[in-house]
Amino acid sequence: MAGRSSRSPGRVPAFSQRADLKRDAKDYIVFPLDVPTSAEAMELVRLLGDHVGLFKVGLELFIASGPDIVRAIHDAAGRKVFLDLKLHDIPATMRRALLSASRHGARFVTVHCDQGGNLLRDVAENNPGGTQILAVSLLTSLGAEDLERLGHREAYVRDPSSLVLEKARIASEAGCHGLICSGHEAARVKRELGEAFVVMTPGIRPEWTLVAGDDQKRVVTPRKAVASGADYIVIGRPIRDAKDPAEAARRIAGEISAAL
Ligand code: C5P
Repeated sequence: MAGRSSRSPGRVPAFSQRADLKRDAKDYIVFPLDVPTSAEAMELVRLLGDHVGLFKVGLELFIASGPDIVRAIHDAAGRKVFLDLKLHDIPATMRRALLSASRHGARFVTVHCDQGGNLLRDVAENNPGGTQILAVSLLTSLGAEDLERLGHREAYVRDPSSLVLEKARIASEAGCHGLICSGHEAARVKRELGEAFVVMTPGIRPEWTLVAGDDQKRVVTPRKAVASGADYIVIGRPIRDAKDPAEAARRIAGEISAAL
């Protein structure tokens, strides 16, 4: 696809999520298959296939099972695979990786923003497979001290959200389809970059869940994330560790419905 030439939200591409009025509340839910084997992953796909919108395959499962797992989920659940590999390499390698991902049926794939706009544009414009590109803005594991040591300017160290916004602009101008960011930034990203720019937010916790030893810090409820404009919310342990995962997913979909 062609890169966007200005920062203002311009044309609305065909993949616009909100424009699709037929989206159900469950379609907003992205369930990460954070398990070590294909068998466990496919059991979760069977259990949750009717209750979530996308299955996320991350590094753990992909390295353990290989690309066949992407095809297997695709075949079992429809085109519902999000390949979260956070690619970061030279343009030629990125292009080929993206092509491979789309051959296996991934709907979304993640790339790091840190290679800059030129690389993102190159990748976005040479993407014949049609897999949608989501740019990883800033890992939430990075704190102010890390940003300072990595050489970021003081304004970003003081306010990491402003760095997320700048990365969102770079990704949008380059023609990426959307961004991974926290629920705290979703509204600002949508406001500035427009409805068609997909926003996916991890770090989601329903009020009724308590994740033991939770490592997510700046969490947001499903309702707040969707009300802020998130098109997709990544929710793992609150569903996976529930006594009845399908029921937990249904309950979350109910909360999303209330926000829509
Ligand atoms: O809901 P839960 O915390 O269990 O979700 C964990 C999943 O969310 C993991 O797959 C992790 O990679 C992803 N995640 C992410 N970005 C973050 C935090 C978590 O992609 N900032």
